[in-house]
Amino acid sequence: MCGIIGIISTNGNVSRMLRESLKRLEYRGYDSAGIATIANGIIFVKKDKGKIDEIHRMLNFDSLPGNIGIGHTRWATHGQPSRENAHPHLDCSGMIAVVHNGIIENYLELREELSKLGHTFRSETDTEVIPHLIEEFLKSNKSLEEAVRQALLKVKGSFAIAVISSKEPDKIICARKESPLLIGIGNSQMFCASDIPAILPYTRNIIVLDDMEMAVLTPNSVTIRRIDTGEIVNKDIIQVSWSPEEAEKGGFPHFMLKEIHEQPRAIRDTLRVDEKALEIFVQKILTADKIYFVAAGTSYHAALAAKYMLAKLAGLGSDAIIASEFEEQFPGDSSGDSVLIAISQSGETADTLVASRIAKNAGVCVLAIVNVVGSSLTRLADHVLYTRAGPEIGVAATKTFTTQLTLLSMIAAKAARENGMIDLDEYIRLNTELNEMPRKVRDVIERIEIKVKQLSKHLANCRNAFYLGRGISTATALEGALKMKEIAYIHAEGYPAGESKHGPIALVEPGFPCIFVAPPDSTYHSIIGNVTEMKARGAEIIVLTSKSCDDVIKNANTALILPEVHPILSPIPYIVPLQLLAYYTAVERGYDPDRPRNLAKSVTVQ
Ligand code: M6R
Repeated sequence: MCGIIGIISTNGNVSRMLRESLKRLEYRGYDSAGIATIANGIIFVKKDKGKIDEIHRMLNFDSLPGNIGIGHTRWATHGQPSRENAHPHLDCSGMIAVVHNGIIENYLELREELSKLGHTFRSETDTEVIPHLIEEFLKSNKSLEEAVRQALLKVKGSFAIAVISSKEPDKIICARKESPLLIGIGNSQMFCASDIPAILPYTRNIIVLDDMEMAVLTPNSVTIRRIDTGEIVNKDIIQVSWSPEEAEKGGFPHFMLKEIHEQPRAIRDTLRVDEKALEIFVQKILTADKIYFVAAGTSYHAALAAKYMLAKLAGLGSDAIIASEFEEQFPGDSSGDSVLIAISQSGETADTLVASRIAKNAGVCVLAIVNVVGSSLTRLADHVLYTRAGPEIGVAATKTFTTQLTLLSMIAAKAARENGMIDLDEYIRLNTELNEMPRKVRDVIERIEIKVKQLSKHLANCRNAFYLGRGISTATALEGALKMKEIAYIHAEGYPAGESKHGPIALVEPGFPCIFVAPPDSTYHSIIGNVTEMKARGAEIIVLTSKSCDDVIKNANTALILPEVHPILSPIPYIVPLQLLAYYTAVERGYDPDRPRNLAKSVTVQ
């Protein structure tokens, strides 16, 4: 997730406006930033790694000349944060500048093709193929608009781009597919931006571009076309009434709710995995004597789910260890063939870093699953796979959990296929279901949010709750309980449902909320017994299940119906109602879910 901005004006220099707009997009990424403008037929660029203010102090963005320009604030996906990898990116001649948010899936192929044609690349980014492709199409006397259109027909993946050229300095070309982009219509000024806050001080009149649409912006006009057919599209202008603060949260009252709603996009981006890195992970896992997962908090719950995934699907045993406990449990690596998979959103959690370092010093191969490119864990690990959730601002992890699960299930599926534990049909089924997951998660949110909000009004008055699941749903239950504890301050206990009768059931009295995570998998018949045990003691039964599961539905006071998915994928849709439940319960109790007491987003102490 990155932020892009483009401004063209008849009212003088735009560099300061570009910088200020980028600041308002910084929540979308903040590892590097850059601006390009055109004046006197020359493109000027200032960019570097770091936050916008830091770079501005060093380079003074406001001194860039010209009444047309584009800017970018980056959240790295390809290549470490560095000056070279920061946007805007230029073609060989330095006459075309491009900013991009998204992922170009076929960039390696295109890069090779373009290199053979004599193009020189200066960065490791996927984006840089775009200016070179445009340069290539311009050689056949196409207009800038047509060259951009042709270039976009060659790229696979997602994009929101803005392009300027010193050859046609009177326009900005912008386009989108799967990454957000809107156009702002000002007074003798035209804007394109990833999000509304960027342009709110200048205009409230916007046009939202749809997938596969591109636009040519001049200070007083906007022309929109389909990228595939080139046909002109007429679109309505919308008036935005949000305050700047509301706009930053995309109209949601809190970042946490915004991030819950972002999960379909985050999962879809994560599915665009680096295939080579995935294959390395799978080979290391398949040849390991011993497999450890280490992580903390929510990331530990993803690790626990992964342990079930590997066992059920690939027949591989592993250990999921809470990072701060690793040192006391690690027996060393006598065979020299162990692998440790460290999972962390931030890549900066001290406990996870320490555990990884201990393993590495003992000769263990360290694989990392991380959201923040360039973080400490990525530097320590031998190999890295990235979740592509984008920056998570809410302290409670939401979209980073479902994207971790997405990557882990891809690893388990590929390992199971390669060691022959699943046949091709099941592998195809898993991949098809993973590709459908963004839509399924969107449907869950749309269908269930109001019901969960109603349920939260009741839970807000409870002092305790049990979250119970069996098998892989134990991980979902633990994560649901953690969400409730950390933001709504209700004592919520996640437990394996089968174990609850060995002690915790003593707490149950009439009205005690028991939330069962009960998908229709191999544990389903056993969990029915656990539901009836709790019901017999007067517990209030809330079940998350699927529509075919009559036995649990008929014993429930409230049933939340979720889609039927492959058993190893169930934690992805099933956690979503529990995230929403914690969120609405916190709000109902008058707490700010974005700023839970005593907690920090990244815990850098042991
Ligand atoms: O950045 P990490 O994933 O390593 O963070 C680990 C935990 O601190 C984190 O998951 C924490 O439990 C969540 N913020 C809870 O929602």
